[in-house]
Amino acid sequence: MKTSAILLVGGMGTRLMPLTSKTPKPMLQVAGVPFTEHQIRKASQAGISEIVLATSYKAELFEPYFGDGAKFGIKIKYAVEESALGTGGGIRNAAALLDDCDQVVIFNGDVLSGHDLAAQIQFHINNKAEVTMYLTKVADARAYGCVELLADNQVKSFLEKMENPVSNLINAGCYIFNRKVIDQIPANQVVSVERVTFPSFLNSGLKVYGYLDNSYWLDIGNPQALVKASADLITGVITSVATPKHSGDHLIAAGAQVSSSAIINLGTFIEPKVVVESNCQISGSIIGSGAKIGANCKIVNSIIAPDTQIEAGMVVISNYLGF
Ligand code: GTP
Repeated sequence: MKTSAILLVGGMGTRLMPLTSKTPKPMLQVAGVPFTEHQIRKASQAGISEIVLATSYKAELFEPYFGDGAKFGIKIKYAVEESALGTGGGIRNAAALLDDCDQVVIFNGDVLSGHDLAAQIQFHINNKAEVTMYLTKVADARAYGCVELLADNQVKSFLEKMENPVSNLINAGCYIFNRKVIDQIPANQVVSVERVTFPSFLNSGLKVYGYLDNSYWLDIGNPQALVKASADLITGVITSVATPKHSGDHLIAAGAQVSSSAIINLGTFIEPKVVVESNCQISGSIIGSGAKIGANCKIVNSIIAPDTQIEAGMVVISNYLGF
């Protein structure tokens, strides 16, 4: 059984504006590498040998970094949507580039998860499923696609973003489609997989299963979540093979100049060419390449854009400066 993958990375990332005005969300730095690198390494680790990046917004920024994938142990191809086709349309468009395979793992490009992908694939095969959705439990399902399961883990209903969710199980943004099922999505049209494709699969009687895994899960689609994801990866709350080796609870890139009197902790990531002057405290934050942080600053749970200058003595809490 051959498994390939599609990574949905074409969205505009409006909830992250202005962080995404120059850089698409999946290329934003999270724990030392573009977020997408964590997902590509996860796919490679689960035995997937080919992945197509479904791109649209700022599509040209992916290939110069990821190339043909050789550096990451996986073959990478790029599907470009001239105008965004939505999540379902993007899957259909990207599938045209796949080599022969039996099933396709589809990743949302903005979910950090500790779920066992190899086990999800095995679950899909064992159940002879046509579609298998990774599900996680949340306290409040209103902002997500909510799923009702039958006793044998088949999906009974799927309802995208509703005021009174029927359960607390949600679509966690990583699903497996048998290759031939993708051909049921209309070509060259804007289609939402959540609003149109999943409900139509259920209506047409496809075998859709839910794979429940309650390990770490975070939608990195807003600034607070993005900075938390980075800190969690650096402090080891969640692990990723893509996180650069580091010691302690911070990651300071080679070439950054950090005063010996500065306290850098709680998962802070300092990019190359940053200067941090004396007596600063920087906690749980991301400091972009080339930024200069004056003496006596306190920066907590914040993101400082590349090349931004922060004046001495400033206090920055849960803020996003310089974008
Ligand atoms: P927001 O605008 O902040 O909601 O972010 P987003 O644009 O990323 O949208 P959303 O979070 O709903 O998207 C989920 C995933 O699908 C993300 O990884 C997006 O990059 C991706 N995505 C959304 N729309 C498209 C699209 O039209 N084409 C492709 N290829 N991917 C998409």
